Amino acid sequence: VGTGGSVHYDLVAQAGTSELEAGKPTETYGYNGAILGPTLRMRRGQAVEVALANHLPESDHSDTNLHWHGLKVPGSMDIVPDLHQGIHSGETALAAFTPDQPAALLWYHPHPHGSTGLQVNLGMAGLILLEDDVSDALPLPKAYGVDDFPLVVQDRRLKADGSLAYMESMGGKDFMMGERILVNGVENPYLDLPAGLVRLRLLNGSSTRRYAFALEDGRTFHQIASDGGFLAAPVALTQLRLGPAERAEILVDFSKDLGRSLFLRSEAFAAASEEAEAGQGRGFPVMQLRIARPGTARPVPGSLTPVPRIPESEAAMTRRFGLEDTGDAVINGKTFDEMRVDVTVSAGSTEIWEVTNFATTIAHPFHIHGGQFQILSRSGGELPEGERGWKDTFLVSPGETVRVILRFQGLSGRYLYHCHILEHEGAGMMGQFEVQ
Ligand code: C2O
Ligand code: CU
Ligand code: CU
Repeated sequence: VGTGGSVHYDLVAQAGTSELEAGKPTETYGYNGAILGPTLRMRRGQAVEVALANHLPESDHSDTNLHWHGLKVPGSMDIVPDLHQGIHSGETALAAFTPDQPAALLWYHPHPHGSTGLQVNLGMAGLILLEDDVSDALPLPKAYGVDDFPLVVQDRRLKADGSLAYMESMGGKDFMMGERILVNGVENPYLDLPAGLVRLRLLNGSSTRRYAFALEDGRTFHQIASDGGFLAAPVALTQLRLGPAERAEILVDFSKDLGRSLFLRSEAFAAASEEAEAGQGRGFPVMQLRIARPGTARPVPGSLTPVPRIPESEAAMTRRFGLEDTGDAVINGKTFDEMRVDVTVSAGSTEIWEVTNFATTIAHPFHIHGGQFQILSRSGGELPEGERGWKDTFLVSPGETVRVILRFQGLSGRYLYHCHILEHEGAGMMGQFEVQ
């Protein structure tokens, strides 16, 4: 709801009750509701104001703040009010910025150092749908909840009494995986779809779990967007790999399926031993899709929007980041220190960042705040077509080096980079860069 060309949202962080298991109420946290938060619509060039009120019950983890994952905003707005102090229960914080980047599926979540993982596990996260003239003009399904569906996929673990477990019975492992799969905060979910071309906007909102999304019958679908917006052209796939915090939009043709039902699944994939032990890499159903009503058959567009590649020659320098998880989670031998600026970059410059995973036991999803960048290469093999668009998070497999190119334009102040396994982030696998 906006006046004078700007849009204002009120978010109230609160506790509530979700029924994740029949007959057993589960205490969850959400924004304006019991679990997750409303989808915030934003438009390129339109000013946004978000007021966050903290109504969480007071506890040792009730201080909170808000981060705009994937949005390019000034450092002072990247985490509101800031990384170090959350707002206490009963207080309010205000964020104001004007998005200026391509249409994309982005998200928001709390980022209070030390309790990010816990708060997200309890349900605090929401989506941002950023639109622009390009997304308006493309002939794609865009009727929200009719043929265009946002799907937040998360894994959770419940204790016997129905409450959410966090980092318990994990056998001393420093990451959180659950065996219950929720979509938009619901377990055993189903979705009624029209028999036509359908757009699914997927967020892997899990802390650690990766997914290999596929349709039960192995049919081909098309990826049209990555983290930061549309790809140059749709990419035909039968399986889509998404690490924690990554997003993708896909088009699936159900025009010949009226009356049928099939599952969206995550298929089995190879995982490093430590992860596999915790249940990573197994196949399972994610959600039931019921093709319940007539829809509009339409073609998958041949192209979407140009994504000009940032030339490597534009980069002033290359920096290297080594990820290790022996003992403490560290980057370049250091654990996070909020008083330390690890990297200083010049405003307006372009750099290449090379991220190497020296660990052998787990893949790390590396995330850099401050908007969107491009992946140049993966030492592990050819860069998949679906990773040739705008990105803010990417998986780095054990032993792999991923090179990305970033333009520090329109940024100012301090931002974070970190592993998006929230328990690794909490353990200090995070650094700060400052744009000067
Ligand atoms: Cu999803 Cu530091 O972010
Ligand atoms: Cu972020
Ligand atoms: Cu990690």
